[in-house]
Amino acid sequence: MAAARRLFPFHLHARAPARALAAVVAVATPHRRGKHDVASCKATGKTKPSRPKAKAGKGGERLQRRALEEHLKRRTRSGAAFDAELYGRRSHELHVPVLLGEVLATFRRPRQLRSFVDCTLGAAGHSLAMMEAHPEMELYIGMDVDPSALEIGRAHIEAFLASREAKGGKDDALQGTLRAYTHAKNFKYIKQVLGSVDESLAVGLSGVDGILIDLGMSSMQVNRSNRGFSVLQDGPLDMRMDPKATLRAEDILNSWPELELGRILRDYGEESNWQFIQKQIVKTRATGGFHSTGDLVKLIQRMCTISKGRQGWIKTATRVFQALRIAVNDELRILEDSLHSSFDCLATGGRLAVISFHSLEDRIVKKTFLELIHGGEADDEEEDEDDLALTDMDGEDEPWFNQRVQGRNGIVLTKRPITPSQEEEKLNQRCRSAKLRVIQKT
Ligand SMILES: C[S@@+](CC[C@H](N)C(=O)[O-])C[C@H]1O[C@@H](n2cnc3c(N)ncnc32)[C@H](O)[C@@H]1O
Repeated sequence: MAAARRLFPFHLHARAPARALAAVVAVATPHRRGKHDVASCKATGKTKPSRPKAKAGKGGERLQRRALEEHLKRRTRSGAAFDAELYGRRSHELHVPVLLGEVLATFRRPRQLRSFVDCTLGAAGHSLAMMEAHPEMELYIGMDVDPSALEIGRAHIEAFLASREAKGGKDDALQGTLRAYTHAKNFKYIKQVLGSVDESLAVGLSGVDGILIDLGMSSMQVNRSNRGFSVLQDGPLDMRMDPKATLRAEDILNSWPELELGRILRDYGEESNWQFIQKQIVKTRATGGFHSTGDLVKLIQRMCTISKGRQGWIKTATRVFQALRIAVNDELRILEDSLHSSFDCLATGGRLAVISFHSLEDRIVKKTFLELIHGGEADDEEEDEDDLALTDMDGEDEPWFNQRVQGRNGIVLTKRPITPSQEEEKLNQRCRSAKLRVIQKT
């Protein structure tokens, strides 16, 4: 595994449990839900809150839509207190980690976190916060399919470990020795990567305590025009997360069969106008084809009527780009397979947390988690019913897991996904569509 690298070991003597880090953990403690929340209305038997009314007139429609969005979001908004200081400390100019307090809260239970795998290292924002909050961690593995992202994340981890080692002798919070590794690998290979580090992990004898998958792209990937991910910057029609992969967006646009092209626009882009766009793309092939993201954007701008304006073409372009990116990187199939592999890699009591950014991903996570805990096919209809085996956890234990679903192999801790708080949304627009789901192995 040429790209795998063991970071220098972090030797420290066993010491008393965390003290210096208590502050970080304390600020992530969730507060109770407000009395108007749907969850608490259910618990007290009161009726659900009525939908908010928005003003009619100029801009009224937009206000109404926002009010409805907010009303729906209230059902899933994180109950964790927002820790602006933690965000400031762990954010990077290249990428701001999403749902950071909630990820930390997820891995505070059920026991000490001895081993942790970050499948999507990126700029290492989540990883560093986890290392800081878990001085007891003995094994850390960070993976990213994009070697340039991995380089950045690895440099941040090395700097963090170096500074921790420098002050290690004085810090009572630090215990034991941390073995830290980074691997330039797709997370679909999680079993092989774990096996290369420790054979007992490969054969599932021991398993790891925590796994995080933070899907999608980092800001550093979107902002680099040469990757072809951004609708707003001209660049090559590439969109590969892994530069060694052979398929590019250009290949799909210029040579995939028309029906396949239509299928990805419909299924991966959820684009209602997919047939028209499919036909326009095929017409363009006859006049020279596509050579840059700008070529594709120009076509979409021409297709979108004047009345749709800038927002109209941007939304359509975002859906078309999403369809291409998912197809280029085979994202949905890899996600589903990797959820199974990751669950296999967990120790008993271990947790897998997944942050998704669009409904296609979230649907897969939701359905696969149910399959994993029940050990078979999940019934989509059934799991939307309220009479599932739910355990109300709205107590001192873990209030943000307001409902869970118990199966014979595990527990889904988030029957409803957790979405960012309003404070986080104000700070980082990119987090608006994020959803966190967590499963625990039993
Ligand atoms: C949203 S970013 C992660 C940001 C990170 N959590 C942080 O705090 O900085 C997603 C990362 O996952 C990587 N990625 C996407 N798909 C992947 C896959 N199948 N296997 C491994 N890494 C993947 C991307 O290259 C990107 O760097």
